[in-house]
Amino acid sequence: MSVPTPPESIPGARLLFTLDPSVSYLNHGAFGAVPLSVQRTQQRLRDEMEANPQRFFGMALIDRLAHTRRHLAAFLGADPEGTALVGNTTTGVAVVLQSLGLRPDDEVLGTDHGYGAVNYSVARECRRTGATTRSLHLPRSATDAQIVEIVRACLRPGRTRLLLVDQLTSATARVLPVAALVAVAREHGIPVLVDAAHVPGMLPVQVDAIGADFWVGNLHKWGFAPRGTAVLVVAPSWRTRIEPLVVSWQQAEGFPGNVEWQATLDYTSWLSAPAGLYALRSLGVERVRAHNAALAAYGQQVVGDALGVPPADLPDPGGPGVAMRIVPLPAGVAGTLEEAAALRGRIAERLAAEVAVMAWHGRGWLRLCGQVYNTPDEYERLAARLPALLAEVGRG
Ligand SMILES: Cc1ncc(COP(=O)(O)O)c(C=O)c1O
Repeated sequence: MSVPTPPESIPGARLLFTLDPSVSYLNHGAFGAVPLSVQRTQQRLRDEMEANPQRFFGMALIDRLAHTRRHLAAFLGADPEGTALVGNTTTGVAVVLQSLGLRPDDEVLGTDHGYGAVNYSVARECRRTGATTRSLHLPRSATDAQIVEIVRACLRPGRTRLLLVDQLTSATARVLPVAALVAVAREHGIPVLVDAAHVPGMLPVQVDAIGADFWVGNLHKWGFAPRGTAVLVVAPSWRTRIEPLVVSWQQAEGFPGNVEWQATLDYTSWLSAPAGLYALRSLGVERVRAHNAALAAYGQQVVGDALGVPPADLPDPGGPGVAMRIVPLPAGVAGTLEEAAALRGRIAERLAAEVAVMAWHGRGWLRLCGQVYNTPDEYERLAARLPALLAEVGRG
């Protein structure tokens, strides 16, 4: 296969981060990476908190949180009145699930591209309420139109109480047509929760235009915010029904304050999130998106080529701007969660590269991300050394 031309690197971008220079960090999608300027912002806020905790919590913190919420909502095209800061996507999902008032005979419909921890959360809420959960198979190669038809055929009006879909899937790095899925579910009055964990910062989005009942996304992945920063966006008709996980002093205020205020916590990650967006904007949001998507595509091609994967078998994410790509691993490698975790560790240790290794339907996949701090040679080095390591794994 002819080697594609990699995108031009963004000069100096790596220096904005404190990543270990001896490691190729190709897994931004897992836990993000926080620019130094944002780490410093958070430290300054912590210094302020420790200088006088009473003053920090007692004066203006609620207003500062509201200001932060408005800033993040504007970036995402969401109604600030319907946007709550939460610690992470998993928490946002849990808030929604426990607010649904599920009953026996109700079902939550998800897909087999859903995120594992979110599936556990759905399963627990179903156990607690007597509801059931159903997972739809969406073939990896299905078109958007086919996906919409598969979902349409599986909705059970009167029984399906929630459709849960990912905007960009984790294990399969696939963009799902969430606006069209919301429209289909709406025809039957079925609420939709969009898990958009990877979307803020990576993909252009107008959350309100999607029209979902619930949309939750992390700022701490592609939005350069400190970890523990996410938003839950709720449609007007649900706002009075949303219950926080922990009831605290803002309970009487209703949504979003009651969901945000979780008693005495370190709220500095949220307050630092605008600095993450500032870093992204300083680099140029569109430039970063184009660079990251092109670099991830480059990485997919060089690594796929090294593993002998025909270009046609390298999955297309199904939409522009996606900075995560997957490469199929040889049959029999990393087909289970445990094997995938072991291989990830081995690649980190032996090849000084951090990647995600996913097991999906018994098959192993390597997931590569592109970020401003990455350069083409990092994927090339991985491509040069991975086949030998996989051969070793194959030999046991
Ligand atoms: C699709 C999806 N949903 C949910 C999550 C969970 O995110 P968090 O750990 O920040 O709650 C992830 C994390 O990677 C994800 O990829």
